Amino acid sequence: MIVERSRQQVATLLGCAPEELVFTSGGSEANNFALKGTFFARRDRAAHIITTQVEHPSILAPCGFLEREGARITYLPVDSTGLLDPDDLRRAITPDTILISIMHANNEVGTVQPIEACARIAREHGIRFHTDAAQSVGKISTRVEELGVDLLSIAGHKLYAPKGVGALYVRAGTKLEPLIHGAGHEGGRRAGTESALLAAGLGAACVLANDLTPMKGVRELRDRFWTSLQARFGRRVVLNGHPEKRLPNTLNVSFVGRVGADILGAMEGVAASTGSACHSGRIELSPVLAAMGVTPEVGMGAVRFSLGRETRAEEISAVVEALSGVLS
Ligand SMILES: Cc1ncc(COP(=O)(O)O)c(C=O)c1O
Repeated sequence: MIVERSRQQVATLLGCAPEELVFTSGGSEANNFALKGTFFARRDRAAHIITTQVEHPSILAPCGFLEREGARITYLPVDSTGLLDPDDLRRAITPDTILISIMHANNEVGTVQPIEACARIAREHGIRFHTDAAQSVGKISTRVEELGVDLLSIAGHKLYAPKGVGALYVRAGTKLEPLIHGAGHEGGRRAGTESALLAAGLGAACVLANDLTPMKGVRELRDRFWTSLQARFGRRVVLNGHPEKRLPNTLNVSFVGRVGADILGAMEGVAASTGSACHSGRIELSPVLAAMGVTPEVGMGAVRFSLGRETRAEEISAVVEALSGVLS
């Protein structure tokens, strides 16, 4: 059966049992399921959840919802490279902590959190640990036993699967209240007949994602891109994110004193995103850059470039030339 073969393919990538996977509509649903599913499965006690200030909205918004439902949430800070300190996590734990949710890699700056260390702390205290691995699957290793996690979210479209499919890894024995109640699909954890088409797409993408060797080339190209920008723009360009503990494909840079949206608007055929938004004539930093303590003068010039497995050196050179044209 296609759905079960696909489940096995996802399980092989994560190093888990196929029964430990629940197919979802994407990363957002997987994250909502991890948070709300834990909260509603453990309503018998006070609920304290620990997360970070730099999570994706699909973590922060359900946290806001759960606060309205009576949960207490601690949002851990990060340093100027986007990294959290495991000691801060240790200090935030209380007897009421039911869940720790920390993203594996950040979607804006690519910083990779010390998940193994954080999951070890959670385990020492008998607390369930979730990681949002939407950005890291297929780019760095996401084997659940190495990471030591109980729950892990995948977003299919981040690893070349179709949009609209994802999965949540649920360690055997971890009880979650379903988001969708109904018949017994997905081991009784998510009602509704699965889409074989979408499951097949995610399974096939996971087979390709098993091979991380192409990411070595992506990292080299990304690093050459950064070196070229530094050579061209000197101190007018600043790196956002951790210099080493970062996804191999992500380059988030700030062009100091410039506006990211203006730069991108002047460059045709380049798909990148900015780190700030302009609301009623005022520049608003992204919450991630703000949490990293980036100043508005630097943060408003942020542009995030994401390389793919197919990105070629000529394309990078063309972007560097285009940037020189726009910024000169
Ligand atoms: C870190 C992170 N988490 C969750 C999501 C949400 O995934 P989806 O778009 O599949 O709902 C995304 C991507 O959009 C993401 O980057």
